Amino acid sequence: MTMSSPPPEESRRGFLLWLTSALGALATLLLAVPFLGYLLGPLKRKAPDWHPLGKVDDFPLDQTKLLTFPNPLRQPWDGKTGMTGVYVRYKGVNKEGKHDFMVLAMNCAHLGCPVTWFPQSGLFLCPCHGGVYYEDGSRASGPPPRGMFHCVWKVDGDTLLVEAPHFPTLQDTLTHPA
Ligand code: FES
Repeated sequence: MTMSSPPPEESRRGFLLWLTSALGALATLLLAVPFLGYLLGPLKRKAPDWHPLGKVDDFPLDQTKLLTFPNPLRQPWDGKTGMTGVYVRYKGVNKEGKHDFMVLAMNCAHLGCPVTWFPQSGLFLCPCHGGVYYEDGSRASGPPPRGMFHCVWKVDGDTLLVEAPHFPTLQDTLTHPA
């Protein structure tokens, strides 16, 4: 008895079935990659770190100073927008004998535009929609729903540090307990 090969119709059907399964598996794999990235993304998120802003002596009493530094979450193609900034004001030594600072995120609490400090008027002004803040960062007028965001800071030795990339959001305003 001799072995006979399957009829051409059956072998073509088998091949098409195999091809359909393979393409289906490939499509599932391609769709799973971004989904897995979404699910696992928080695991590889960079933990907040402390970024030095300068020596305590670099900050004159009651003067607001803008400090910029590279955003720890920047991408190589971010260019100038890869920089972020904070407004720092030294408030002197508090009742506990510790250095006291006000560190405000430079981004407007409305839609995030960088605000500008005007020492002549003692106000922060937002160029985008006219938001205005008082010198302590509280809201004065305009569309912002709240005052500027306070960043988490600490003094280590004689150096002022800000926590980054722990940036404020409306849900996590980072108000310093001091
Ligand atoms: S972004 Fe500042 S007022 Fe809109």
